[in-house]
Amino acid sequence: MIASTEKVALPWLDWLRFRSTTRRAPPAKAWSFGLLAAACAFNCGALTMAQATQLPQQATATGTASPAASLNTLQVLHWWTSSSERKAANALAARMADEGLEWKDAAIPGGAGLGAGKVLKSRVLAGDAPEVTQIIGVSVAEWAELGLLLEIDNVASAGNWNGFLFPTIQALIQHRKHVVAAPLGIHRVNTLYYNRALFAQLKLAPPQTWAEFQNVALKFKAAGIVPLAQSSEAWQVAALFENLVLAESGPEFYRDLFVRRNPAAAIDRRTTEALERLRVVKGWISGQLDERPWPEVVRQFSRREAAMMIMGDWAKPELAERGMALDDDYACGTAPDTGKYHLYSVDTLTMFAGDYRHMASQEKMARLLVSSPVQAEYNALKGAVPVRRDADLSKMDSCARASWTTFAQGAAVQAPSLVHRMATDEASRDAIIAEIHRYFLDDRSTPAEAQRRLGALFRLFNLRSQGAPGAQDTDRRR
Ligand code: BGC
Repeated sequence: MIASTEKVALPWLDWLRFRSTTRRAPPAKAWSFGLLAAACAFNCGALTMAQATQLPQQATATGTASPAASLNTLQVLHWWTSSSERKAANALAARMADEGLEWKDAAIPGGAGLGAGKVLKSRVLAGDAPEVTQIIGVSVAEWAELGLLLEIDNVASAGNWNGFLFPTIQALIQHRKHVVAAPLGIHRVNTLYYNRALFAQLKLAPPQTWAEFQNVALKFKAAGIVPLAQSSEAWQVAALFENLVLAESGPEFYRDLFVRRNPAAAIDRRTTEALERLRVVKGWISGQLDERPWPEVVRQFSRREAAMMIMGDWAKPELAERGMALDDDYACGTAPDTGKYHLYSVDTLTMFAGDYRHMASQEKMARLLVSSPVQAEYNALKGAVPVRRDADLSKMDSCARASWTTFAQGAAVQAPSLVHRMATDEASRDAIIAEIHRYFLDDRSTPAEAQRRLGALFRLFNLRSQGAPGAQDTDRRR
């Protein structure tokens, strides 16, 4: 384990020293690197075989490029690896190529960025940071605080980003009043998908509330049809739970629990009810308690082996890949009792500053990503909606239109997804997800026990985060 940044010769220290003499370099904090190294010693080792085998290949690819070509070549680390996600990433690469930029793909499997986060830490510690990385939500502030991200204020002001970005998006891409990320699209995590043929077969109406959901779930179960397609993978269970919390309480309490991590919210009755409901919902998953990656869950739903699915709207293009047409084979609504709200995950790409040799290309990429044509094309392929207030609604499908229109209502109806790093720092997020997962898997553990443990975690986080980076609330009304 690397204990001291002073004593160990690491390649990235050289470029950090170089950077600290240039105009844009915020001071890189040695203590932060110590924390990163420690976190990595604990976490980075746990890579899957697929992730681990990608590391040397990527390093070789970068190392052999000719110097002139390499300045226009940007290696992009991201976690869009399902078939439809690949198409969206390929479209971005094609648009960049139109403008003379080469997008060198470094995709790391793992839904919600599980693998990508670990690979990124390893690569940064090895002095091999990619030029562009999908870093989202509060993690943007965590990485910016280390002094590693390129500030792209000039791109944002020349393009008048503040003139057309939603306020929540403006807050997400800034750190200490500097723009450090280019926003791509807004996903809605509280999306309910339902199979129209199965609902027609039993003459059922799509549920708007949890009481109605219970009613249709019982009928599907009685007819031998699995009511809900759901994985027991930790992040997917926690995504279901955040939907339940939002349904029980609304965005204000949701923020109290997941953003402010208020110990009183942990033991609140609304948290009890969400936990109780999680147990009930577990009974509607019917024997499919395995840790399937999300595209497998989509596959189950697309084969009509389950009547409903609650998942972010990245599932939409994946359903299209499997031949399912929106509003025909399936329809999308909102998770029960969350119709008025938008539980969001916003995708952003950040630029690692390095020695600034790629700065011109990185700035160009940032400018292109936010442009109207790229936003429209990418988001239609990705299942998300543009981050722009001037987006063309007529080009969106019914699900996207509802998502964009709700998000446009502002912070009062928006809830930042815990699972997708919108609510809190990485370490707190991981600990909360693990706690919810543990409760979900073990039917003997009671809501009261889970709540006590969450409360204890919150007290610990709050002590630890006093004055530390990352605890950023994107609700600008405060
Ligand atoms: C990202 C999406 C991605 C999803 C599944 C989310 O965190 O925002 O772009 O499709 O994870 O991996």
